[in-house]
Amino acid sequence: MEKEIVIVLDFGGQYNQLIARRVRECNVYCEVKPHTIDLEQIKAINPKGIIFTGGPNSVYLDTSPHYSKEIFGLGIPILGICYGSQLMAHLLGGEVQTAPVSEYGHTELEIDAEDPLFKGVSAKSVCWMSHTDYIAKAPEGFQVSAHTQACPVAAMSNPKQKFYAVQFHPEVVHTKEGMKMIQNFVYQVCGCTGNWRMESFVETTIRQLRSKIGTGKVLCALSGGVDSSVAAVLLSKAVGRQLTCVFVDHGLLRKNEGDEVEEVFGPNGNYELSFVRVNAQQRYYNRLKGVTEPEEKRKIIGEEFIRIFEEEAKKIGAVDFLVQGTIYPDVIESGLGKSAVIKSHHNVGGLPDVVDFKEIIEPLRMLFKDEVRKAGLELGIPRHLVFRQPFPGPGLGVRIVGEVTEEKVRIVQEADYIYREEIAKAGLDKGMGQYFAALTNMRSVGVMGDFRTYEYAIALRAVDTSDFMTAEASQIPWEVLSKITNRIVNEVKGVNRVLYDCTGKPPGTIEFE
Ligand code: XMP
Repeated sequence: MEKEIVIVLDFGGQYNQLIARRVRECNVYCEVKPHTIDLEQIKAINPKGIIFTGGPNSVYLDTSPHYSKEIFGLGIPILGICYGSQLMAHLLGGEVQTAPVSEYGHTELEIDAEDPLFKGVSAKSVCWMSHTDYIAKAPEGFQVSAHTQACPVAAMSNPKQKFYAVQFHPEVVHTKEGMKMIQNFVYQVCGCTGNWRMESFVETTIRQLRSKIGTGKVLCALSGGVDSSVAAVLLSKAVGRQLTCVFVDHGLLRKNEGDEVEEVFGPNGNYELSFVRVNAQQRYYNRLKGVTEPEEKRKIIGEEFIRIFEEEAKKIGAVDFLVQGTIYPDVIESGLGKSAVIKSHHNVGGLPDVVDFKEIIEPLRMLFKDEVRKAGLELGIPRHLVFRQPFPGPGLGVRIVGEVTEEKVRIVQEADYIYREEIAKAGLDKGMGQYFAALTNMRSVGVMGDFRTYEYAIALRAVDTSDFMTAEASQIPWEVLSKITNRIVNEVKGVNRVLYDCTGKPPGTIEFE
């Protein structure tokens, strides 16, 4: 089967990853490359199509990122988006200027000419614009295929050469028929067949891992989160017991979580691997005694993890490969020259310094989060693990405001369990980005029966978010909140008050510390 690949040349636009995801949604493999990649490398990749991204610059300034005009001589279809469209116009002899009127947001698009990119798209549609420059004149050989009220060349094309350009962003959902346009580009223009499937990724990866590892020993830090779980299962399918997974229970996990991880990955679980569970709860509580400053807590939890992992690695002896659950968004190099960053999650950050090994293996480094989940399902990992909401590395340590004690961990675990149970019962668990209970450092007076109480307040947090960079407090129906509140104060010893956090991010953060 021919390996079809489309590449996205990154000129610094904020949606570069989204473009790659959209292409992959067409079952065509796609990678983002920095605009500094040289032409020979592109030739070696031999992509079926190239997409130029948007970017914050003006093509007519010398300081702006460009690409050699020779790229247009490769005979490969090219789609320019926003800055990418202006770059195409500029390099091929058109004119780009500051637009007299900038357009931002939903804009009506009118299609003026027959164009393969717009096959099946309505004559009047809505697109998403975000630009201050525009193409004032299309290069010779191009037709103007669409306009908006303020943008005379909202789309242009040279179908003979297979060059297409759109001023708007087809990759964002606000462009109503954007996905149709991307499909048209990859299928009609580039001639892709869409043969990239998760089954083939999983199969190929297992085969490649097996041949790379041979008889070597592999070590993986398993947290029970989706990335490390999927990475571990891929490795287990590839090399079985040559893989050792170390799972550190730091006593700051959600209720029953340590046992659930052990159930799936442990000796009675579903996979062939060596599983080491380190019960380090007391060790963590001792280290955290008297510590109240959030960053200090994070540092201690991270350091302790590394120390424990180092001890376990020593017991195992010489390791050939260390597994990391790095995923694609952590890897992508920005077109503006930022270098690749390896995930700085405390669970994995720093491990390479303390474990002796020959090579790092990152089996998920080319996958987006939703693709990691698909791979997880493909591998038969239980759905509750695959769709687990994000959980911070320092765990409940950052959900207990102030000093962490074993008693406070119990309180927050019980309250959080009830909260999650009721949210699931109400059918709200699929829609929210993240939700959890936190323990405030506040105690207040209450009355229960005929007795005065002086107990802790639990705060409930729930946010709607897609990127976790910004978030809004979820609007949980009052009846649900009221039921949760009753259950928590009645069932969790040590709590006499429940508060709901209505703060967005910004100005708040999602976690409490
Ligand atoms: P904040 O609180 O920064 O959270 O709005 C954004 C997302 O990151 C998670 N988070 C962490 N994850 N180590 C992690 O692995 C951490 O120290 C940490 N702090 C926050 C948080 O759960 C949310 O999904």
